[in-house]
Amino acid sequence: MGEKELEFKTELLKLEEGPSVVSLRKCQLVVVDGPNRGKKVALNRNQLTVGKREDNDLVLTDTTVSRNHIEIKYQQDAFELRDLDSTNGTFINGTRVKEAYLAPGDRIKVGNTTLEFVAFDEKISIEPSARDSFGTLVGRSTKMRQIFSILEKISPTHATVIIEGETGTGKELVARAIHENSQRKGKPFIVFDCSSVAPNLIESELFGHERGSFTGAVKSRRGAFEEATGGTIFLDEIGELTLDLQPKLLRALEQREIKRVGSNVPVKIDVRVVCATNRNLRKEIEEGRFREDLYYRLSVVKISLPSLRERVEDVPPLVERFLQSGKFNLQPDGKLKVTKSTTTRSRCSHATNGRATSGNFRTSSNGPARS
Ligand SMILES: Nc1ncnc2c1ncn2[C@@H]1O[C@H](COP(=O)(O)OP(=O)(O)OP(=O)(O)O)[C@@H](O)[C@H]1O
Ligand SMILES: [Mg+2]
Repeated sequence: MGEKELEFKTELLKLEEGPSVVSLRKCQLVVVDGPNRGKKVALNRNQLTVGKREDNDLVLTDTTVSRNHIEIKYQQDAFELRDLDSTNGTFINGTRVKEAYLAPGDRIKVGNTTLEFVAFDEKISIEPSARDSFGTLVGRSTKMRQIFSILEKISPTHATVIIEGETGTGKELVARAIHENSQRKGKPFIVFDCSSVAPNLIESELFGHERGSFTGAVKSRRGAFEEATGGTIFLDEIGELTLDLQPKLLRALEQREIKRVGSNVPVKIDVRVVCATNRNLRKEIEEGRFREDLYYRLSVVKISLPSLRERVEDVPPLVERFLQSGKFNLQPDGKLKVTKSTTTRSRCSHATNGRATSGNFRTSSNGPARS
């Protein structure tokens, strides 16, 4: 489909002080055992090789390592390792492999050397965009303009994105804006809210099912992934996904194929994944409720939407947008009841009571509607 891979070279971004709204997933290979212990190499290119020969990206002096031992390719957000017919073979966490997808914490043994695959989120600061809107999103604060800037860059790629933020911070709007600014625009944008489907039905709603696969499955049905073919699936409240389903989603993302419930036939999927959560997934991982390998897979780009109280300067454009598009403000003849020129200022200070608002737009949006 000619979609760009996400090519984030660090030089594009510069680090600054202050809380960051964007993190990128970074991966490294670290030599944890063997003669070159302590050596590291960043995995930031589409292909990387490891071996004894001088022209490898990671050169190991271990004599039991082959001249060209392994190759790691970056494709569709995943790192895939391949053994290059090495003499002594390649082992991941003790199992000999020819090809495998890497997950954080994996131990790769080549000869007498052990490498660890390390993944982490790197907070970045990005030059704010000059624009004060992106799709249907509005905002003039530096943080929102930084988000617009990152959205401009990542929307056209295939990158999986995770959006964190309190309720009402605009997570769904960001997901839609990514889709609308990608080559997938015009193809389906499917919203799947993990918190609104009964846990025992999530699998069949996501991946579909065959007739008779469970009581009540009277007809075969496509799931949300198949519905989203060619487009984007927005997995809302991903933190609600139960632990038994997480490996199934991980497999679907890695293999780029799904199996309907009750079927053994894999179906190829061409779907971009964007997810959102109002939980802190790092904390969920620490507490054992979210799998790190799935988080790693989803968080190629992480956008942390700031709450409205951290960007009070965005209240006026939000109120304006709301007055223009809210049904509450329409007269029967289609004219606006309240127009910007008469009210925005007084209503903004009214909505915020002259101080930073504690709510986000969902809560403050009642303000103009009632008054
Ligand atoms: N930056 C913004 N620009 C324009 N409208 C916004 C913005 N942020 C929020 N809104 C509006 O606020 C409302 C809530 O936004 P949205 O549904 O995207 O939030 P959310 O983060 O998905 O919330 P929840 O966690 O409750 O699902 C919507 O009506 C949306 O149009
Ligand atoms: Mg939402």
